[in-house]
Amino acid sequence: MCGIVGIIGNRVVSGRIVDALKRLEYRGYDSTGIATLIDGRIERRRAEGKLRSLEARLEREPLDGVIGIGHTRWATHGRPNETNAHPHVTDRLAVVHNGIIENFRQLRDELEGAGARFESDTDTEVVAHLISHAMSAGLDPVAAVTTILPRLRGAFALAILFQGRGDLLIGARRGSPLAVGHGEGEMFLGSDALALAPFTDMITYLDEGDIAVLSQTSLRIIDEAGSEAERPSQQIQTGAFMAEKGNFRHFMAKEIHEQPEVVARTLAHYVDMAEGVTNFPGGEGVDWTKLSRITISACGTAFYAGLVAKYWFERFARIPVEIDVASEFRYRDAPLEENGLMIVVSQSGETADTLASLRYARDNGQTILSVVNVPTSSIARESHAIAPTLAGPEIGVASTKAFTCQLTVLFALAIQAGRARGKLDAAREGALVSALMSVPALMNEAMKREPEIERLARELSKARDVLYLGRGTSYPMALEGALKLKEISYIHAEGYAAGELKHGPIALIDESVPVIVVAPHDEVFEKTISNMQEVAARGGRIILITDAKGAAAAGVETIATLVMPDVDPVVAPIVYALPIQMIAYHTAVFMGKDVDQPRNLAKSVTVE
Ligand code: M6R
Repeated sequence: MCGIVGIIGNRVVSGRIVDALKRLEYRGYDSTGIATLIDGRIERRRAEGKLRSLEARLEREPLDGVIGIGHTRWATHGRPNETNAHPHVTDRLAVVHNGIIENFRQLRDELEGAGARFESDTDTEVVAHLISHAMSAGLDPVAAVTTILPRLRGAFALAILFQGRGDLLIGARRGSPLAVGHGEGEMFLGSDALALAPFTDMITYLDEGDIAVLSQTSLRIIDEAGSEAERPSQQIQTGAFMAEKGNFRHFMAKEIHEQPEVVARTLAHYVDMAEGVTNFPGGEGVDWTKLSRITISACGTAFYAGLVAKYWFERFARIPVEIDVASEFRYRDAPLEENGLMIVVSQSGETADTLASLRYARDNGQTILSVVNVPTSSIARESHAIAPTLAGPEIGVASTKAFTCQLTVLFALAIQAGRARGKLDAAREGALVSALMSVPALMNEAMKREPEIERLARELSKARDVLYLGRGTSYPMALEGALKLKEISYIHAEGYAAGELKHGPIALIDESVPVIVVAPHDEVFEKTISNMQEVAARGGRIILITDAKGAAAAGVETIATLVMPDVDPVVAPIVYALPIQMIAYHTAVFMGKDVDQPRNLAKSVTVE
């Protein structure tokens, strides 16, 4: 992960680098650092922890210079302390890096054998020494970078600043994203265009293997084969604003509350409300009628959205769906049939494992459809068709509104597929569309349970372990509930298919383990309730999330029953996501955790 930024400018850059790093903190926040050239000499400031520590340091020890690089880190090699913070320097250069150099150990041994002295435990420092070494052998900076990059295995985006060279900044990418920004007499490098939004909206995306050689007024690109290359520049619309919390205490709370609005916006993109049918603007590249199979690949919460969608595609369109977490899919050499479609789901569009799965599937002849929230992301750019989620920037590390927008899009696409394949008639399509259209209002209703959830959170905060159960589309919701709770409250939580409980996990049940049962009154409700009875019989303390009918029919003692509005069970996951998110949020807040930036996590996971 990590965020990198570089500015070759005509006025002091340190404040602007910090500003860009603020926008990149979603990539990691273990430590931060910045280096600039002052009178041709590299000066740096680094700090452990979040960006505010670096800001405090810069207040005490300001940094001048009109050219510089900056970094916000998510530790991979070496503890998150100041010594391991980027930039890493030699007497010739400073470098910031996003990615992992897989063969760093071997390179480090070789460099140490040649006399290099390492300061940190990072993989990045080998890049600094390799370039330095090549320069000592007489190569100029561009030739040195070009020569050493083929020796690196793994993924990287780099920004490199050279001692005595106020006219030169070099960027390079392979596997990790890097964008070049064009300003007025200034040029920029950034992990994404959003980081550069306050400075410019004119962006050039580098291709795999590209090296970018920047001066204040020019950009030269050298491709992987060593040839001069042209890449198109484009005006992008990220908006220079930084998302604000408004009246909310945390971004996560704001994003939970935004859901009725963003889901309404998203569904309006896919539904012709007057006709009661679904649309797929930009979906010309996808021919649903010819598909033999759909493969869905994603990570974390996006994977759970895909897992819900499997039920929808199979039910509405009768297409077999295979789904796997991207980190497994990409390495298991999965056979892929002709006429297959891969759907990748990603909020950031930069998740390394998901991107690698996409490339594997594309290389194996699959049509790629991405459900993404960032339309300029690598995943979006490498897909044959894009189905955007219109959730707006999601800042909280825990995914909330992106998830419900992913579900909304996937539901609409499953209807599309069903109609195209002749598996849904107009009446059924109309009924499904109207169920989808009812979701935003029902979300507003569901939000009214928040005061009860806040009270319940006090109880949950005492638990060491929490189980979540669900059947059918509520099973992925149980998995999502458990993920959400553990990632922000650090309480151990597991989600299970309710019917699977008796095959092992039931051994965990006693009065100290709250069991959260997700059970709208649907066709599997009674089965779920039987499993809930089994929990109750063993002294388990149950929290039931259901609707009025379900609450009346359950007949089991609970410590709390959260009554959701009546919702067509087919869209229940989109509405039931809200209490699940609010439970995690309020529990974590009650426990005093850093809800928006939980420990060890980052918003965008660009390493394997
Ligand atoms: O950006 P992506 O949707 O590809 O990210 C996938 C996961 O890293 C992400 O959903 C993660 O699981 C969230 N922190 C969960 O809240």
